Amino acid sequence: MKPREIVPGVLAVGAQDFDRRLFDALIPLPDGTSYNAYLVRGGDKTALIDAVEPSKLDVLMATLRDVPRIDYLVSNHTEQDHSGGIPWVLERYPGVELLASEPAKPMLVHHLGLAEGRIRTVADGEKVQLGQKTLRFIYTPWVHWPETMSTYLEEDRILFSCDWFGSHMASTELFVDGADAVREEAKRYYAEIMMPFRKIVQTNLDKVADLHIRLIAPSHGPVYRDPGSIIAAYRDWTDDRPHNSVVLPWVTMHGSTTIMVERLVAGLAERGVQVFPFNMAVADVGQLAMRLVDAATIIVAGPTVHAGPHPAVLNAAVLANELRPKVRFASVVGSYGWGGRMIEVIKGAMTNLKLEFLEPVIARGLPKAADLEAVDKLADAVVRKHADLGLK
Ligand code: FEO
Repeated sequence: MKPREIVPGVLAVGAQDFDRRLFDALIPLPDGTSYNAYLVRGGDKTALIDAVEPSKLDVLMATLRDVPRIDYLVSNHTEQDHSGGIPWVLERYPGVELLASEPAKPMLVHHLGLAEGRIRTVADGEKVQLGQKTLRFIYTPWVHWPETMSTYLEEDRILFSCDWFGSHMASTELFVDGADAVREEAKRYYAEIMMPFRKIVQTNLDKVADLHIRLIAPSHGPVYRDPGSIIAAYRDWTDDRPHNSVVLPWVTMHGSTTIMVERLVAGLAERGVQVFPFNMAVADVGQLAMRLVDAATIIVAGPTVHAGPHPAVLNAAVLANELRPKVRFASVVGSYGWGGRMIEVIKGAMTNLKLEFLEPVIARGLPKAADLEAVDKLADAVVRKHADLGLK
């Protein structure tokens, strides 16, 4: 694809990756992704912002074929899907200055093997003049690594936000009008890599609140022509208040857990609580992460395997622990054959979360009437706890 104009003097020069299906050997990409890069021409000087994933370097090479000179290469984020092309850019444009945040310098050295002397660090708030255009660097840590910064083009009021506000989505469309069209992809992306840093994301949102941003140009997914919509979505996702919903990762081996899960799902739904059950034998962990963004409660359900929980649901607990959602309550439902430490192991897997544990329900073999009544009581307890928070 040829470079495409975003506004006069600003071109999209990155790559679409329609076929990629997994990121970090963990994150499903049902809609592919893109590795955006932007060329900013200010009249006197030219800057390239980000430098695509190594596997798509050929696309960047082609889009820059007719660009004889680049003065600044801005590395907003060291992760290789944005920095992978930096060594080639430095070689192709020997006079280019590589600009990065102070914390990024050692990371670029370690991850890309760059010489320290090749990197010029910029301070938070520092500007570079390109002639008629001015780039301002804004430190926005933990969206997604600690060194990450955003770049603001003052005259055109464009925020180049890198991962922040991005969506894993390959598309031939350069722009999106409002967050609704990419809400699922953007939320999935937030959940998978930025949710653990929710409080810092709030701080970053405050930091750019007064910029009167006209366009947000992230490094994954389309450019937002209505930045207020995605900023509002981020405000909701990072807000401390959860929704009246339960995430229920579960798995079964011989059907006992299924009986209890079906009872629990029906019981919660009848009591007005939205439930998102995920059969972890087949679930998309990105969907699980997305539903954890809002949930007030997580209930892990499964059988014991030998002495502990089934690994598929333990994995869900470990993932939730890693992603640190705003979830407030938890419980365990399941069955066992002859004993085991399912409850302790699952609790022990979620110690990062500030959880109040509700009475678990563990049946021996097939659930009996008393077990199903206990499941109903668990549904009642969830409703009470959610009501105490004012959730409806
Ligand atoms: Fe798109 Fe954190 O890299």
